[in-house]
Amino acid sequence: MAFAAVDVIRAKRDKRELTAEQITQIIAGYTAGTVAEEQMSALLMAILLNGMSADEISQWTSAMIASGDRMDLKGLPKPTVDKHSTGGVGDKISLPLAPLVAACGAAVPQLSGRGLGHTGGTLDKMESIPGWRATLSPEEMLAQLRDIGVVICAASDDLAPADRKLYALRDVTGTVESIPMIAASIMSKKIAEGTASLVLDVKVGSGAFMKDATSAAHLARTMVRLGTDAGVKTSALLTDMSEPLGLAVGNAIEVAEAVDVLAGGGPADVVELTIALAREMVDLAGLSVDPADVLASGAAMDSWRAMVAAQGGDPDAVLPRPLEVEIVTAPATGVISKMDALAVGMAAWRLGAGRARKEDTVQAAAGVLCLAKPGDEITEGAPLFELHTDTADRIPAAAAELAAAVEVVPAGRPVPRRAIVMNTIRG
Ligand code: URA
Repeated sequence: MAFAAVDVIRAKRDKRELTAEQITQIIAGYTAGTVAEEQMSALLMAILLNGMSADEISQWTSAMIASGDRMDLKGLPKPTVDKHSTGGVGDKISLPLAPLVAACGAAVPQLSGRGLGHTGGTLDKMESIPGWRATLSPEEMLAQLRDIGVVICAASDDLAPADRKLYALRDVTGTVESIPMIAASIMSKKIAEGTASLVLDVKVGSGAFMKDATSAAHLARTMVRLGTDAGVKTSALLTDMSEPLGLAVGNAIEVAEAVDVLAGGGPADVVELTIALAREMVDLAGLSVDPADVLASGAAMDSWRAMVAAQGGDPDAVLPRPLEVEIVTAPATGVISKMDALAVGMAAWRLGAGRARKEDTVQAAAGVLCLAKPGDEITEGAPLFELHTDTADRIPAAAAELAAAVEVVPAGRPVPRRAIVMNTIRG
């Protein structure tokens, strides 16, 4: 029977399971432009409302992988392992993590994206390093993985092109928030990238896609199954995103914090999560070193410097400084009991650290520096946040985002320390 997109839409509208052939044809047709935008929009909404079975998600993922090239990293002399985060506020973990895991003996192919909305993008942060280049040819990427063991770069346009087109459509049709489609979108890119093992950092909380642990666990299990079924050793850590990670939220200031971690310092939560993810990655890669020892040895810093230099960056360059700095003060005296990740992420975005549309440019020096975090004592009127921007007229809107971001309880009242790693799901 001839393929008709409307039959696929009707089937999902009526809650029927799509066949493998229907999924293959609709994704191929949409990528080639023979399935109309309005037809795919209707199907996406039907999927959002009626869901997909495990078999449908798996087929949808395979069809998106088949829409482009699949990289082959099998010729590398080291085990390959990557990490993907579902996105959070102050999430600079890839920056210390990738060189650390390389220094442990693995090859880490970190194909990353740019930020959209309140969560930052790894490439935007790295581009604040003068001279650093995000775009590498496949040959350059392979050579760097062979020589240094780590690359952070932009994914090529040929990697799961169906996902790029579909993601843009989901963005404007209110259909991003579908667990099957988020899982298929992330995993199609990671499977096509060719890594042998993958650790997923699935964020939970106000600053994350998934606001509660139940939906985050559902997303994590769906992705772990997709990876495992495709022959990629996959685990997921569910991690807290109710408050920003570390003290720095932005671009250059997050690079500076990542370098502090590589130098043996940095905020305790950033160090804790970097080590937890590195241990899972090293374990999946079959290596038997403790990343905490490797970090302490300085070898991860050596890998970072080599990686930055190989991509044209100067690891010793002074990072961009903002033209304007404004202080926001504490609203009360006591102990900070809560700092809302979403509010801090929105403030950084309003200062110019992120983009509203994908064509927008970001300010390298923009962001928010938290001068205290939950558990710290604070005095009313003392500096609490530093707002960084190159455009002074962005400051009032950013300060407004922070007006209700923090809760302060009387001194002496215990503020429980949050557990960064909430759960681990293994394939
Ligand atoms: N990140 C992705 O790559 N895809 C999604 O659908 C959501 C987050």
